[in-house]
Amino acid sequence: MTPSIEETLLSAIRTIPDYPKPGILFRDITTLLGNARAFRRAIDELVHPYAGEKVGKIAGIEARGFILGGAIAHQLSAGFVPIRKKGKLPHETVRVAYSLEYGLDEMEMHKDGVAPGEKVILVDDLIATGGTAEAAVKLLRQIGADIVAACFIIDLPDLGGRKKLEALNVPVRTLIAFD
Ligand code: PRP
Ligand code: ADE
Repeated sequence: MTPSIEETLLSAIRTIPDYPKPGILFRDITTLLGNARAFRRAIDELVHPYAGEKVGKIAGIEARGFILGGAIAHQLSAGFVPIRKKGKLPHETVRVAYSLEYGLDEMEMHKDGVAPGEKVILVDDLIATGGTAEAAVKLLRQIGADIVAACFIIDLPDLGGRKKLEALNVPVRTLIAFD
């Protein structure tokens, strides 16, 4: 019998205790990416609700959102636009500051990465506090994107990120949750 999507993901995602600091259980998707069947299944499962939508761009958050976002863009015949840590993009950008566990950082995207009113799906591997995704939503809205949804393989619901995005009227799709 074909394993359920939850079983497939649970067995393909590796958990590393105490990385990058003591007490954190790091959910490592490199093992999922290296497993051809599990990778394909995760991408298929993430995209199927949007198959009929005219999505113009997939916005992927550095770094793992680039890998998933490229595959999703291909599946949906959409373009891809990168959302990067500051200082990495060559053309005119919009920039936003956001808080991490330690201090502040900034992220950017090209001003012309999305056309005003264009439908966009935001993609990353995991949502925890939602700080990173919230900053990405602010950038996309600054340049007039119409955010259809934000998609992640993993949700850490105890950290409240999903609720943060839903409070911004962004529909959230995730495939598996870890306490
Ligand atoms: C991870 C993950 C998300 C972010 C989620 O990235 O890929 O982008 O954390 O956390 P949040 O919901 O609390 O903001 P990380 O900060 O490890 O950066 P990296 O992808 O560049 O390694
Ligand atoms: N980003 C924030 N928390 C994380 C975790 N537990 N595993 C992987 N990436 C993360």
